[in-house]
Amino acid sequence: MKHLLSAADLSRGDALDILDEAQRFEQALAGREVRKLPTLRGRTVMTVFYENSTRTRVSFEVAAKWMSADAINVSASSSSVNKGESLRDTAKTLRALGADALVVRHPASGAAAQVARWTNDGSDVTGLPTTGPSVINAGDGTHEHPTQALLDAYTIRQRLGGFEGRRVAIVGDILHSRVARSNARLLATLGAEVVLVAPPTLLPTGVQTWPVRVATDLDAELPAADAVMMLRVQAERMNGGFFPSAREYAVRYGLSDTRMAMLRDDAVVLHPGPMLRGMEIGFNVADTPQATVLEQVRNGVHVRMAVLFRLIAGAEESIGGPDSRTP
Ligand code: CP
Repeated sequence: MKHLLSAADLSRGDALDILDEAQRFEQALAGREVRKLPTLRGRTVMTVFYENSTRTRVSFEVAAKWMSADAINVSASSSSVNKGESLRDTAKTLRALGADALVVRHPASGAAAQVARWTNDGSDVTGLPTTGPSVINAGDGTHEHPTQALLDAYTIRQRLGGFEGRRVAIVGDILHSRVARSNARLLATLGAEVVLVAPPTLLPTGVQTWPVRVATDLDAELPAADAVMMLRVQAERMNGGFFPSAREYAVRYGLSDTRMAMLRDDAVVLHPGPMLRGMEIGFNVADTPQATVLEQVRNGVHVRMAVLFRLIAGAEESIGGPDSRTP
């Protein structure tokens, strides 16, 4: 696998291999005072974010650093993008500067795939490998966010033991959610039953072709769910308003503190963050033992280590790196 642009790039075997590799990284680092493996020494990972991010950008940077890669953050707001430089020229510039991996977030759906094409078009850059960098989609518009889906799957497997026969309800603003698209694909690939729960106005056209069931009544779905994934309402993609109203949405689709009582005791609650407490999730829900919000954040580092390892480590390398073949 050269790039990770969509959850559709992952077969069941690929996804399980990445989750297993992430688990090995977690175990290799557990209890270490110095969290540093030589795995990617000499490699360069660049994060290029045209949209705001806390979790994804920082966890890729931490993942790269814990594997001894050179990690460089390119923020659109402080780069030459602000002077009008195009995405194409920026991507080619970063390739010329020696990126082995480009981690890209952009508001346009398909942007990461386009960067992969532009930076792997066969053109030569003197002194650099003829193949361009691996590109990882860190969220492109409303399209996909595959590493989020992988870390969510890792968290579900850690809490529930597996995917077969498990029911995952993905709740809220499906229309604008790249997290929902990647999770629906990946969780179905892994054998889970996925149900999307949303007001009809926040469902995309074409959802009938997704490998999911669609429902509109959250209260009817909660008692049978093994995992409930709450989504943020993405007001920034709604041109100033949405229907139902924020208040009605919170009442009908928010996982309130009282609605939590409808869940089984062994069910888990996920949220990719950032959360709007009081809107899609009750003020206290994320702090209950059933919620996995901070576990997801933490798991994101190990999953992104596994993704970087798979994409840019040499074939001869083990988790511990070329100088240390065992963790
Ligand atoms: N879940 C997620 O993508 O969060 P950030 O926007 O903070 O990266």
